[in-house]
Amino acid sequence: MPTRSIQARMEDFFYRELLNYLALAERKRRWNPFTDIPYAQANPKSSQTLAQCVETFCAVEMYLPDFTSKMLHMIRRSRGRSWFHINWGYEESKHSLTLEGWLLASGHRTEEQREAVQASLSTLEWELPYDHPRQMVCYTMIQELATFWNYRNLEKLAVKEKDLALIAGLRIISVDERVHYHFFKNTVKEWMKWDEAGTIEDLKYVFDHFSMPGRTQIPGYDEAAAVLAKTGVYGPREYIKLVKNPILEDLKLDKDFKKIEDSEERERLEADKKAALEASVERIEVNGNGHAVAKNGSGDHPFNSHAVRRVLENLHSDGSKQDAGSDMPRYANGRKRSAFLDVVGIEPASRTEPSRSIILDHVPEKLSGSRGMAQLDNALDQRLMAIGDELSNNPEEMREERAKIQQEREATRKSRMKNSRLFKREEE
Ligand SMILES: [Fe+2]
Ligand SMILES: [Fe+2]
Repeated sequence: MPTRSIQARMEDFFYRELLNYLALAERKRRWNPFTDIPYAQANPKSSQTLAQCVETFCAVEMYLPDFTSKMLHMIRRSRGRSWFHINWGYEESKHSLTLEGWLLASGHRTEEQREAVQASLSTLEWELPYDHPRQMVCYTMIQELATFWNYRNLEKLAVKEKDLALIAGLRIISVDERVHYHFFKNTVKEWMKWDEAGTIEDLKYVFDHFSMPGRTQIPGYDEAAAVLAKTGVYGPREYIKLVKNPILEDLKLDKDFKKIEDSEERERLEADKKAALEASVERIEVNGNGHAVAKNGSGDHPFNSHAVRRVLENLHSDGSKQDAGSDMPRYANGRKRSAFLDVVGIEPASRTEPSRSIILDHVPEKLSGSRGMAQLDNALDQRLMAIGDELSNNPEEMREERAKIQQEREATRKSRMKNSRLFKREEE
């Protein structure tokens, strides 16, 4: 049976999870922070405490440039994780816009105050609290569940204070947070399948050193945290009851981070499964420069021409076709299933021509000349360009530009007609 490293397995997992996540988000979870929240129904009579709680969460969300950029550097080489992170950043950006919008709409804060808060928050940067990607996944999982409860509990306060705008905003945001939590929790679970002891060790380490982002950056954080704890929105009690214990339960761990086993039978089955998985996992070593090297791998560089041929032709090192019996999901022809097409729900079309990738196997090729795209100027092109222009940030400018281009074209057309008339006359 072909073996694959834990890294390769996790990479596959991240990529598939990313695509499923995006497909669902685009289909069911996209919302508009400007039009989906009834800001006009914000209650100006709501309490100072409610506004302070919103401001605290808003302040945490304001460190988004650090949450996104610093993590992105760490996970740069993982397609699934980095693309997920970019989309996650987009979703988080709407949370701070919505909370800020409510502070302004309710009259609790003026534009000047918003600017002052923004300026004071921008002086300090948030740093990654852990320097290993897996520890960061554990950290984000905990933080996302905590954030979910932050907003859920704050919504209860908003209900008491009859603020329809805040209720609507928090409900939508808390759904996003819940979905974020699941993504990270599923990742931790997957990692536990391949490296249970190491993952649990990371999880324990992160729990032992956990604090919410913003603690050392947000001015007056301790006071703000005391307000949150006093209202019952979020404090040490909620952290244990709603965050730490449920996570341990979800991961089937007891309070000492030991695996909970239902019965001896289950224990035996799990042990067998684990042994089978471990036998199929490649051992990896980390060399001096921090790069993981497969101990029992072939050592081929991905851009080595033999390796490339094998990827393109789907061959093993001995030239035989890929083993369809491996645990990798495959099509009937033995090729690896496309996670993307699985999400779309189709199978790839079959071609008789061989694959030619100019990135993997670049051979300069003489191309026949082109006289430009056929019918680039047709009515649908114009219509689509106009729609895109109208939805852009500067529709007036784009409208003027389009009109100018039309005028120039008209002028060129007229002068061409004139020229051809002159040409004809000369011929006569
Ligand atoms: Fe958020
Ligand atoms: Fe989140």
